[in-house]
Amino acid sequence: MTETRIITASEDDMKSAVSAAAELLAAGEIVALPAETVYGLGADAFNADAVAKVFAAKERPSFDPLIVHISRKGEMYDLAKVDDSIKDTVEKLASTFWPGPLTLVLPKKDVVPDIVTSGLPTVAIRQSAHPVFRAVCKELGRPIAAPSANRFGRISPTSASAVQKELDGRIPLIVDGGACCEGLESTIISIEPREGKKPLFWLLRAGPVTKEMLQPFGRVEKVKLKPGEQIQAPGQLASHYAPRTPMILLTKPSDFEPEEGKRYGLLSYRGEEDDGYLDLHDWEMVESLSPGNGKLAEAAIRLFFLMRLLDEAGLDAIVVEPVSETGLGVAIMDRLRRAAAK
Ligand code: TXA
Ligand code: MG
Repeated sequence: MTETRIITASEDDMKSAVSAAAELLAAGEIVALPAETVYGLGADAFNADAVAKVFAAKERPSFDPLIVHISRKGEMYDLAKVDDSIKDTVEKLASTFWPGPLTLVLPKKDVVPDIVTSGLPTVAIRQSAHPVFRAVCKELGRPIAAPSANRFGRISPTSASAVQKELDGRIPLIVDGGACCEGLESTIISIEPREGKKPLFWLLRAGPVTKEMLQPFGRVEKVKLKPGEQIQAPGQLASHYAPRTPMILLTKPSDFEPEEGKRYGLLSYRGEEDDGYLDLHDWEMVESLSPGNGKLAEAAIRLFFLMRLLDEAGLDAIVVEPVSETGLGVAIMDRLRRAAAK
């Protein structure tokens, strides 16, 4: 057991937290850091032993590669080989969406240890927009490999207390930077050049950078796995982001068939009567993703927090109302489907 310290990093005073984190990382330790998306569990990306500790603390299988976080755009070229056929596009994407929640999968250079990429010939790279994450990267002077700071297959943490619930006693430090402002993990794409046309973007994981936002730069295609085909991003595993309590994702109110004597909670979108879900049942508990207004950005921020809250309530099942699959709704429904998958 390691004692897990929590240091708060506020906007006007993050120096001591940043230094403590960078010192531990430089010494080959692992540290939980706030990102704009979800909390990450970071290690020096060039230190294979440190990266191994990330896999161990998360109980993450070795076939699931990590995202490498850089402190400035140009650092991407130290880690990845960017072919001339996609260079313009990569530059445009980086200058439009970085720092921010877009991860690019590119052919890797030898400096990136194989453990980071699970032996794949590619590396996933992004620049986080969170001031604490960026400051730690900069102070360390090396890229940080960081998956979400949850145990494998569980709900991603969007607060320091959620990280503590997942990893207490397994890591030396959590930097508390408050609640994450996006609430969902970054969008992940790989890029395929096309002669005389805009490139293809293979969407490996839907996220805060939506299809609509990417379309001006290339054609977005969802990766569909054929039976037996190898998974490219475990974001593609059917069951992921899962609470311990069974989750039932409805398509319409009439799909709900309660069993006698069971205790059900509802994860509603707006929490309004006329949605048809609220008065379906005598719910033990109702939580709303976007109370009143129904805004997808608000729903995204609250999603993992409310999934945790409902999971801790000792219900027999969590019943979930769908959200519309446009813009950010695609990423929200993706997480809900996986959480509901057996
Ligand atoms: O917002 C985020 O992306 C957060 C913060 C901490 O940056 N990180 C995150 O990491 O969500 P993680 O490990 O939970 O998800 C990373 C995903 C995994 O599904 C992994 O398989 C995929 O990225 N990935 C990493 N390297 C890859 C590669 N070379 N090719 C395809 N997918 C890759
Ligand atoms: Mg994750």
